[in-house]
Amino acid sequence: METTLIILKPDAVQRGLMGRIVSRFEDKGLQIVGCKLMQISQELAATHYEAHKARPFYPGLVKFMTSSPVLVMAVRGVGTIGISRSMMGATFGSKADAGTIRGDFGVSNSFNLIHGSDSPEAAERELGLFFNAGEVLDFPRAIEGWVYDMSGGDPE
Ligand code: RTP
Ligand code: MG
Repeated sequence: METTLIILKPDAVQRGLMGRIVSRFEDKGLQIVGCKLMQISQELAATHYEAHKARPFYPGLVKFMTSSPVLVMAVRGVGTIGISRSMMGATFGSKADAGTIRGDFGVSNSFNLIHGSDSPEAAERELGLFFNAGEVLDFPRAIEGWVYDMSGGDPE
């Protein structure tokens, strides 16, 4: 089981798209194990996006991410990092395929609705940045045996 960090960015919250985007993760069978609305500080945005610090879009990105509240989620499942990235679609709304979150809900390249960790290392780091101890929960789902084939012992 993997857990990834998903952020519904300020445009998703302001446009009233939280419910529809969260539903896509639930519909897919992924488990939401952490969720909160928060305002990202300058410091947190800078740390989260430090890999992009030298890029021309960085100041605008930090301004956007700190401009209004976001919904952060910890999302768990087998292969959830890759699955979530495919559900999000390509970075730019104008290029993202129909059927993806960015492809279906937006046209902008910078206001692209959603962030998802891109590797297990990034997920661990980012979950630690956005969630305090005890905010990501470990709880059994009643439907687990119908989301995954558990007959071999491991979720398939
Ligand atoms: P994210 O980190 O937000 O999940 O997005 P991503 O992996 O698909 O894209 P990434 O390359 O990590 O870029 C981070 C965010 O920076 C903005 N961006 N703008 N104008 C540009 O050329 C440009 N490139 C990236 C986007 O908001 C992107 O989500
Ligand atoms: Mg990225």
